[in-house]
Amino acid sequence: MSPSLHLFLLCHLSLFTSVTPGKVCGRPPLPDTIDQTGIQRVYEPGAEVFLACKRGYVPSAGSRKIICTSNGKWTNPTLKCEPKQCDVPGPLMNGKIHFTDISFQSVINFTCNEGYVLRGVNNSECLQNGTWSNALPFCEVVTCGLPEIPKYGKIIHHKKSKDNTTAFGDSVTYECLPPQALFGNEIGFCTANGNWTKAPECRFVTCPVPPGIENGFISFAVKREHSYKEKVKYGCKVDYILDGPVEIECQKTGQWSTMPVCRAPCRVDIERGRIFYNGQKIWIENLKPNKILHSEVVAVYCKNKEKACGYPVTSQCINGILRIPQCYEEPSGVQYNLNSKSLPSEIKMC
Ligand SMILES: *[C@@H]1O[C@H](CO)[C@@H](O)[C@H](O)[C@H]1NC(C)=O
Ligand SMILES: *[C@@H]1O[C@H](CO)[C@@H](O)[C@H](O)[C@H]1NC(C)=O
Ligand SMILES: *[C@@H]1O[C@H](CO)[C@@H](O)[C@H](O)[C@H]1NC(C)=O
Ligand SMILES: *[C@@H]1O[C@H](CO)[C@@H](O)[C@H](O)[C@H]1NC(C)=O
Ligand SMILES: *[C@@H]1O[C@H](CO)[C@@H](O)[C@H](O)[C@H]1NC(C)=O
Repeated sequence: MSPSLHLFLLCHLSLFTSVTPGKVCGRPPLPDTIDQTGIQRVYEPGAEVFLACKRGYVPSAGSRKIICTSNGKWTNPTLKCEPKQCDVPGPLMNGKIHFTDISFQSVINFTCNEGYVLRGVNNSECLQNGTWSNALPFCEVVTCGLPEIPKYGKIIHHKKSKDNTTAFGDSVTYECLPPQALFGNEIGFCTANGNWTKAPECRFVTCPVPPGIENGFISFAVKREHSYKEKVKYGCKVDYILDGPVEIECQKTGQWSTMPVCRAPCRVDIERGRIFYNGQKIWIENLKPNKILHSEVVAVYCKNKEKACGYPVTSQCINGILRIPQCYEEPSGVQYNLNSKSLPSEIKMC
């Protein structure tokens, strides 16, 4: 301690003891936001003190002046100090600024969206002069390099790539060179960790010698193994109907797609009677040959005995089977030959 300061302190002490108590003012009670530097411990009545806001705060209301009154009390300090405000930060492209307050001493944080990396400092503080401690950072997109080209495959870029780099979110389509088949994802993406999604594999696939089909044949094909996507056509024997696809294809799995089947024709199993077939009423002996094709429909005639009228009942040929409706009654040879006018097909219709 310097001698002069000693003297100064002693001086004060003597003042304290010699002057009548209650006539001087002590340190004024001041809020935190007011600058306390240079405030003395003791003031004479009538002394005026001009208050100032602390650094980082600005006066917002009230008077700067307080006076030490004759009874040793300070007039009420009315000065109000508010923290300095910094500018609203941002915007931060491809990122977010986290803040609740932008006044002196507030800290704001910066984060980048998925697929972006923060370049710069991830926070900033509002300083006493109303500026931010750190410059706004920026969010740089993650880059991925070029995706791996699968063996026997190729890549179709959805966007042109400059300098052999790609960026987060870029995508490509993979294709395999025929006859290879693609296993995995057809579409690839540059991910947020800077890697491409896993490339698919292109593999050679063969299907066995195409199988024969019952009552049918393979048309336009050599009996050999086939590779992926190759096709084989089928046909059916005369009067057989092809049910299913005409063509089968060698699939990725090494299996053929669903095979067709050949459906058999039917015999209309009545001896004597008239049927309705192909829009015509014909006697069974005139159906030559006695054969209808798979899925075709015929009608035979039954009799309603109470009303004494006839009515047609239909039946469909399903792969060689045609059920004759139960109501159908086969007439005797005599009735058929001599009294055909009385048959259910010839009397009035119900
Ligand atoms: C900023 O980050 C710090 C530390 O990670 C955290 O304590 C604070 O709450 C964050 N502030 C805001 C406004 O998100
Ligand atoms: C800011 O970066 C520091 C290290 O640089 C890290 O510890 C902290 O978690 C980061 N804060 C936020 C909010 O990201
Ligand atoms: C604000 O204060 C900071 C640190 O005290 C200083 O670096 C900066 O230059 C100041 N800005 C202005 C505009 O006064
Ligand atoms: C991109 O990569 C290919 C092969 O890896 C190379 O031949 C070409 O020079 C590269 N281009 C640039 C612009 O780097
Ligand atoms: C990216 O791929 C490389 C090579 O396959 C691997 O070593 C690395 O761990 C991957 N990075 C991430 C973040 O998955």
